[in-house]
Amino acid sequence: MKVFVINGPNLNLLGTREPEIYGTETLEDIADRCQTRGAAYGLDVVFLQSNYEGEIVEWIQEAIGTAEAIVINAAAYTHTSVAIHDALKSFAGLKVELHISNPHLRDAFRRVSYVSPAVDAVIAGLGAGGYELVISMLAEVLRTT
Ligand code: DQA
Repeated sequence: MKVFVINGPNLNLLGTREPEIYGTETLEDIADRCQTRGAAYGLDVVFLQSNYEGEIVEWIQEAIGTAEAIVINAAAYTHTSVAIHDALKSFAGLKVELHISNPHLRDAFRRVSYVSPAVDAVIAGLGAGGYELVISMLAEVLRTT
């Protein structure tokens, strides 16, 4: 079974980007941990990052018919992108929105998510460790459905 983990703009800067908010782990560290955790459950984790909205839309479309689940941290596009919302609506598998920080505790403009109404579950505020937790939770849900 395959899970796409899709990351949006500026998440390639993790490790040095506002470490007081996002921590010091790099995206590569997180990808490694997700792939190791996924492998333990027999899940193939495809870990992706782009600064471009259209590329994210294309990856969501690629997941259709290819993957059982999508985990998406759309980063700033969370708060702006109708295109990502629409693409997610077309994916029939399991969908989880993820944020490293809790956007509701931050700027007012981060309290709106165009992703939330298009997904099954939301996890936010657990730091970079949230990614691995989501992989474990998805493995459990996919095993029992
Ligand atoms: C984020 C929260 C967003 O508001 C922000 O634009 C990001 C990262 C998070 O993971 O906490 O880039 O999605």
